[in-house]
Amino acid sequence: MGSGIAQVAAQNGHETILVDVNQDMLNKAESDLDKVLARLVEKEKISADEKINIQGRISYSTDMADFKNCGLVIEAIVEKLEVKHQVFAKMETIVSNECILASNTSSLSIASIGSSLKNAERIIGIHFFNPAPLMPLVEIIPAVQTSEASLKMAKSLIDGWGKTTVVCKDTPGFIVNRVARPFYGEALRIYEEGIADFATIDWAMTEIGGFKMGPFTLMDYIGNDVNYAVTESVFAAFYYDPRFKPSFTQRRHAEAGFFGRKSGRGFFNYAESAIQPEPMKDEVLGQKIVDRILSMLINEAFDAVFMQVASPEDVDKAMTKGVNYPKGLLAWADEIGLEKVLFQLEDLFSEYGEDRYRPNAMLKRKVRG
Ligand SMILES: NC(=O)c1ccc[n+]([C@@H]2O[C@H](COP(=O)([O-])OP(=O)(O)OC[C@H]3O[C@@H](n4cnc5c(N)ncnc54)[C@H](O)[C@@H]3O)[C@@H](O)[C@H]2O)c1
Repeated sequence: MGSGIAQVAAQNGHETILVDVNQDMLNKAESDLDKVLARLVEKEKISADEKINIQGRISYSTDMADFKNCGLVIEAIVEKLEVKHQVFAKMETIVSNECILASNTSSLSIASIGSSLKNAERIIGIHFFNPAPLMPLVEIIPAVQTSEASLKMAKSLIDGWGKTTVVCKDTPGFIVNRVARPFYGEALRIYEEGIADFATIDWAMTEIGGFKMGPFTLMDYIGNDVNYAVTESVFAAFYYDPRFKPSFTQRRHAEAGFFGRKSGRGFFNYAESAIQPEPMKDEVLGQKIVDRILSMLINEAFDAVFMQVASPEDVDKAMTKGVNYPKGLLAWADEIGLEKVLFQLEDLFSEYGEDRYRPNAMLKRKVRG
């Protein structure tokens, strides 16, 4: 992620220093950037001169002391709190007191990272999506320690880079990685109940639901090991709220080494000779699958607004710009009709008696007035 973020900063005219403990990673970042920019020149997105200028703005170093004159440092190192603490504490001894210190963490709290700083008013989450140069969304996450000035500076800077920013509370999964959980979790649950197979669920979500990728194809793309670990960490961070319960099916796939595309096999087989399973293409079943997953996603979007994680506009923006949903979930709910969404959730809740399906209070209030 670090090299992608450095590319975005340099493309926006900033002198940028990419620091990594591992020289090989720096070499790789430098040669990868050369290839990426060469492709942009080929496609006439940038000129050959611009390529040279962008490359000239990035320097590579294994020494954090080179951050001395930076106005902003965005950390994107290994996802381990103790390592981040060491790095932030050291960084503070190098940079000026005005320098904003940001983290690109996906799963750690910004408050916990900031606790290693003497001047914690300058800590902020600046969460890019992968690949950073292509994905428009950036979540901006002020911690309880963050000053208004640090938030303003970070937001206006990233807005100025042409990114779509959303501001969200320092809560597990921020917006996207929280609201998107049922896309995976409910699809897995539908499979586990024997309602439909992977191919049929993916067909329903793409052909009827209009999503770019089905949940199982997407999990295979992200990697079942990575996606399972995120689900587990969000589940634990929410004090084991059953809404976020991980699935045995995904766990077994990860344990078996069926990670997805990168290992050649996941929910689907990616060997060249493999015959792909055919979906059932049953419209009635497909609609049922879409209604169930979509109502769970909408419930989660309502919960994010209800719990003040972000504004309704930002929740919708986050899902369309961060994970390419065909529509914002709240706008989609209005289109479907809130009564219908609530009815679907209440039906699941009464049938299963599981807390996982409890309809959000804000949704209920909107329907009942
Ligand atoms: N991969 C994603 O899709 C994604 C998306 C958004 C956010 N993130 C977050 O970005 C961060 C990095 O993720 P990644 O996938 O790029 O990880 P990665 O493992 O690919 O890269 C981490 C890099 O940090 C370097 N590093 C480790 N310890 C260091 C230290 N003490 N000082 C300097 N460099 C150090 C490593 O050598 C490595 O090159 C994590 O916090 C992750 O949660 C990742």
